[in-house]
Amino acid sequence: MSAPLINGKQVSEEIRGALKGQVELLVKQGLTPGLAVVLVGEDPASQVYVRNKEKACHDLGYYSEVHRLPDSTSQEDLLSLVDKLNHQDNIHGILVQLPLPKHIEEKAVIDAIAVEKDVDGFHPVNVGNLVIGDDSLLPCTPAGVIELIKRTGIEIAGKHAVVIGRSNIVGKPVSLLLQREHATVTMCHSRTANMKELTKQADILVVAIGRANFVDASYVKPGAVIIDVGMNRLDNGKLAGDVDFESVKEVSGPITPVPGGVGPMTITMLMQNTLIAAKRLSGLV
Ligand code: GUN
Repeated sequence: MSAPLINGKQVSEEIRGALKGQVELLVKQGLTPGLAVVLVGEDPASQVYVRNKEKACHDLGYYSEVHRLPDSTSQEDLLSLVDKLNHQDNIHGILVQLPLPKHIEEKAVIDAIAVEKDVDGFHPVNVGNLVIGDDSLLPCTPAGVIELIKRTGIEIAGKHAVVIGRSNIVGKPVSLLLQREHATVTMCHSRTANMKELTKQADILVVAIGRANFVDASYVKPGAVIIDVGMNRLDNGKLAGDVDFESVKEVSGPITPVPGGVGPMTITMLMQNTLIAAKRLSGLV
């Protein structure tokens, strides 16, 4: 029997609909949330992501600025732009698209973004607040994973969640957010011994290891919830997740497809963060 799909596209549309309504009200009060996206260089995947962010802003009634800079841009010039955006009153969120060209130190750029405008949730202050459970802007993909699980009606509290992958962008923050939701969390990564022994105990399995079709049915407890954060471009041009969907869906419980699972949630959470940042910066919350 095939497992039910967790429909990220539909959940994402529901949230975007609610955000659009809130933005309409705010605009009437004189506040238009503004997002600045900075893209350095011509990485094709980044160009697609940035266009999608621009489109989301347009669809939801946000003010948007996209700064497309050449690959040769110096770190100094990029930091000056970030500083300008930090002080620009009509911009409430700043996102510098990663990866950056090799000659620019990512950490220096992330650290330069004003904490209140860090809608990626990558600044060390926001990461620290996440660790200690204080209010912060949450990183978009991890926040999207939690929102997707909750809005699908799946209970997290008391469950054993296993996360495969320990990146700063997904694995680590998603494990913290699952703990915040009262799951018991096990972390696995590329050096974990006997990974299947651990993943087969998972009630909720989140996979963010960056390897196409890495998790097959032999990793999965029957009925487990499967969240696939992977986005791998195959040689044939097709998109594949980190989960071998066709095999896993025969044993798992609810499962996210790729595309149409976690992917759409990331930009939706970015839009939500920008709205939160706009309200906070304007003293509305
Ligand atoms: N590149 C790929 N994903 C992301 C993301 O979530 N934020 C930024 N800034 N760059 C990315």
